[in-house]
Amino acid sequence: MHELEKEYEEYSRKVTQQRLKSILPRELLPNTAYAPIQGIYDIGWQEWLDLPAADFVKELRKLDDKIIQENYEWTLRLAPFVHRGEFSLEQLKIMELQSFLDVDNFAVEIVSHVFDNIKDRDVRDIIMRHASEEIGHAELKADFLVHAFGLDRQRDIWNAKPIVPNAHNWVSAETDVVKKLKKLCPPLAYATIPFLERSLPRNNRLMAEGLRKHYGFPSRILGFYDLHTYVDIYHERLGLYVIGKYATTKELQDLLREAIISKRENQVRYNMGIYDYISKVK
Ligand SMILES: [Fe+2]
Repeated sequence: MHELEKEYEEYSRKVTQQRLKSILPRELLPNTAYAPIQGIYDIGWQEWLDLPAADFVKELRKLDDKIIQENYEWTLRLAPFVHRGEFSLEQLKIMELQSFLDVDNFAVEIVSHVFDNIKDRDVRDIIMRHASEEIGHAELKADFLVHAFGLDRQRDIWNAKPIVPNAHNWVSAETDVVKKLKKLCPPLAYATIPFLERSLPRNNRLMAEGLRKHYGFPSRILGFYDLHTYVDIYHERLGLYVIGKYATTKELQDLLREAIISKRENQVRYNMGIYDYISKVK
């Protein structure tokens, strides 16, 4: 081991970091960055239940569960079709190329909310941390597309075009209600994004299982799907925290509820559009 690394392992990690942990209200992560809230990355984090709008958060989760259940195929981004092995390889390729476009823009769309929340240090830092955790996922998806379909990264993947006109990535879509919410309470406009990521772990578990079972893809190219069977459990928590803290009036709660519904509707339309397109392909 290099001298500096040795010093880090023996002194900084064992002594300094422990010392810092006991004096800072924020959580010190292994890379020495700080998470804005203590414990939010621990297994079974429940602290959001003590926040002022916790009851509303519970209600919102129930409502969203119902919407997901009633629009299963569309809110889980066509994954049930893949899970049942109903798409041809060509259809799967088109579907995942569109998904690449969404994933590729995601970090930028998240971080754009920073400018509406500059003065709120807590929310500002959550947004930047969230955005940073989305970086690199698009390249994992691109790896899958390269190895599963022999696509060229630059020519075929980075240049892919959207196939549903005027449709926008479901989770970061700025519907009219979201715009209204942004004016009234910018943290809540941001929070719609991580809150809605709650459907992604199941979506990607179905993908990972279907891609193995029906299409025979090996684990070494399924990193994107395996990773997303759990990473968005943590991202939902960012939403729970911000909503639990800020959605404290009836006006804000009504608007946020409407914003969540409008984004799920947008998602249904978007994925139905993709389904229509790929149904015409063999
Ligand atoms: Fe995420």
